[in-house]
Amino acid sequence: MTDLPELSFIQPDLDGLAEAEGRIVVFLPETGKLDQMARRVNRLTRGALERFAESEDFAKLKEGDVHTLGYPSGLAARAVDVVRLDRRIRGIRARRAGGLIGKRAGGDPITICAGSLRPLYDICLGVCLGAYRFDRHVTTGTDGDTALGGLTVLTTRPDEAEQEGAAARAAAEAVWFARDLVNEPANVLTTTEFADRLAGMEALGLSVEVLDEDALHETGMRALLAVGQGSASPSKVVIMSWTGAGKSQAPVALLGKGVVFDTGGISLKPAAGMEAMTMDMGGGATVAGVMRLLALRKARINAVGVVGLVENMPDGGAMRPGDILKTHQGDTVEVNNTDAEGRLVLADILSYTADRFKPFAMVDLATLTGAVVVALGHHNAGLFSTDGRMARALLGAAEAEGEGLWQLPLGEDYARQLKSNVADLKNSAGRPGGAVTAAEFLRRFVPEDMAWAHIDIAGVTTSSADVALAPKGATGWGVLTLDRWLRDEHED
Ligand code: BES
Ligand code: MN
Ligand code: ZN
Repeated sequence: MTDLPELSFIQPDLDGLAEAEGRIVVFLPETGKLDQMARRVNRLTRGALERFAESEDFAKLKEGDVHTLGYPSGLAARAVDVVRLDRRIRGIRARRAGGLIGKRAGGDPITICAGSLRPLYDICLGVCLGAYRFDRHVTTGTDGDTALGGLTVLTTRPDEAEQEGAAARAAAEAVWFARDLVNEPANVLTTTEFADRLAGMEALGLSVEVLDEDALHETGMRALLAVGQGSASPSKVVIMSWTGAGKSQAPVALLGKGVVFDTGGISLKPAAGMEAMTMDMGGGATVAGVMRLLALRKARINAVGVVGLVENMPDGGAMRPGDILKTHQGDTVEVNNTDAEGRLVLADILSYTADRFKPFAMVDLATLTGAVVVALGHHNAGLFSTDGRMARALLGAAEAEGEGLWQLPLGEDYARQLKSNVADLKNSAGRPGGAVTAAEFLRRFVPEDMAWAHIDIAGVTTSSADVALAPKGATGWGVLTLDRWLRDEHED
């Protein structure tokens, strides 16, 4: 993984500003009033900051916008990034402003003149998230492997800031980890490589168990195995456990679809755009990111993260349309479309996880349907839940983290669309309400009395353009939302 630098928090060092390398960040409120540090930068640059504060250019900046003054005379730094920021700004807006600062970092060290500014957690998290890039496979024109050369924050309360900074760094590390998994192409991130990266998290105190194909046969996860049977990569289920509360406490279970590549199988997808299906393990990546964050912040909760790792390929051994599979739960499924593979994977890990771990709640995340993208586009993931309280809590957490989430319905009428003539149900109910029928398919594999939510992240796992907190590509959607949900609802 590309590494995050250490963050350091020190009392404002006015004399050091002239020598600071890289980029210096100063904040200006709407009034353009310079604080003590900004005044020092202004003096060193012979009034450049003041001229800018009085200019049309500054007047045009919106809250949170950044303007760069390049190669300022009087400073060793190669740029001063001026951020228009109201001193009372908090939360997600401060985070987005941080994102713009991080985006400009380009591997440079950054010195942030924060002074008495409060929302340091959000600013630091924003800088780290915005600085992310995925260029490990680019051999020309890159300048090494750090996305951020260092982050020094000049603050009047370095002790408190230290803790906020550590929390922000942990959150960013978890999101970066999830993004790296999603961005990695399928020839690199095979099922085996994915499992190895998750096993690597044992170093953080998680226990990680990898079920190989023999073990999956033994447990009866035949639907999951059927999806992977056309691939040269062996199917696996990885179970990550974090025990941060008493051993006797039931865990929460987070489950993820980890289809490392989805060709559609024998119901082959069209060639145009198929390369995007390297992100079809986004649910698994989010679950891994959350588990990483729980370990990094030593969360007082028990959690199991279960990801089903398979590759959906067409070959002589692949499952066919018309095949009838017996699931782990015992229900039979007619495969009328091999491209509706995610639900087969999830069905087996849902019933297996409920049986084995007896969790108090289950949340699954999956890039499950194109239909959810039609319904909600790229700005909201689709939430489905049988539990009103849980749904509200998840929606609230997503809102607080600035990650779009919108609830869609479930219902018997949709479930009926899954009726099969030859088996207990079929895996595809066609186009109408495709995201809902997929959720209804999953619901069948969750015990009736279990608090459960399904989040279809097909539209939000990657972005085709740069956004405030991420470059084009993987977003890491959901890591922060689920972590906050757990923190706010289930930790004391
Ligand atoms: N992985 C896809 C869903 C998907 C689509 C993810 C677009 C990200 C972007 C999933 O396995 C799939 O192919 N679903 C089918 C289901 C259909 C055959 C019932 C779909 O959405 O077309
Ligand atoms: Mn598919
Ligand atoms: Zn898929």
